[in-house]
Amino acid sequence: MSNSFIKTGVIGHPIAHSKSPLIHSYWLDLYGFNGSYETIDIKTENLKQDVLNLVNNGYSGFNVTVPHKIAMMDLCDEIDDLAKTIGAVNTVTIKDGKLYGTNTDAFGFIQNIKDTVQRENWDWSFEKGKALVLGSGGAANAIIYALIKEGVPAITITNRTREKAEELQKIAPDKISVVEWSERNNACKDVQLIVNTTALGMSGKPPLEIDISQAPNTALVNDIVYAPLYTDLLKQAKARNLKVVKGIGMLLHQARPGFEKWNGKMPEVTKELEEIVLK
Ligand SMILES: NC(=O)c1ccc[n+]([C@@H]2O[C@H](COP(=O)([O-])OP(=O)(O)OC[C@H]3O[C@@H](n4cnc5c(N)ncnc54)[C@H](OP(=O)(O)O)[C@@H]3O)[C@@H](O)[C@H]2O)c1
Repeated sequence: MSNSFIKTGVIGHPIAHSKSPLIHSYWLDLYGFNGSYETIDIKTENLKQDVLNLVNNGYSGFNVTVPHKIAMMDLCDEIDDLAKTIGAVNTVTIKDGKLYGTNTDAFGFIQNIKDTVQRENWDWSFEKGKALVLGSGGAANAIIYALIKEGVPAITITNRTREKAEELQKIAPDKISVVEWSERNNACKDVQLIVNTTALGMSGKPPLEIDISQAPNTALVNDIVYAPLYTDLLKQAKARNLKVVKGIGMLLHQARPGFEKWNGKMPEVTKELEEIVLK
């Protein structure tokens, strides 16, 4: 049990919808830590001053969500290579009045898949085959970087706005190819991993129209959208008996490094935590 009270939270605008307080409060209780994790609503025009207030009010750190992930880069005293490469900060640690920024989306994405593969005892690994990434937004950036680091031999990216996919191709031009969005069904051929990183299929957004029938029987399908828990893409993959990894796990795993930095304990993702967050 830690004696000092550790103040943490998540900054963003709007912020009331954030699931992060549920995750961190669960871990604070589970491990018996003396601390708090709040939602902190900060408007763009107040970012610099409000962040300074957090420092002056003794916060140990905070998560960063929309719309501050890029602007936060300029407010940190130091940014690690991961956040620099991804171009966005989602976790800040405060030490001796200084702000240290990192990005944990890549970690969350990889750990979610590894955790599920291990739990299900699947014969599958990142190095074994090609990946198809749908989308080229902020999340795709972190995911493509992570896939290259994990040794995926080749990646195909497809995105409605082709130029954004071509921008991400620069992460590893020798391993990444870009195909037209209209070619996404054919792009499922020969891949061992299909990841949806677009906002399509999320509650309130248009559906993700894709036919994955050409994917091999050994493929793993992951949707980072987690509302609904089982998206149409995951339902399609389940119906074909493919390996299915839900998006909620990425949300839970990406929170772990921040908790560890602030409280000194790497927390575990449990079934109970998933149920609490989905309630
Ligand atoms: N599970 C998790 O922990 C986790 C983490 C991060 C994000 N997410 C989810 O991932 C999704 C993307 O997040 P993000 O931060 O990367 O968002 P983003 O930067 O806004 O990117 C959105 C992506 O969706 C595509 N898209 C949006 N509307 C489309 C449409 N009508 N037709 C085709 N493509 C469309 C965009 O294509 P264009 O480039 O053509 O606009 C872009 O590739 C969100 O649903 C978010 O909630 C989940």
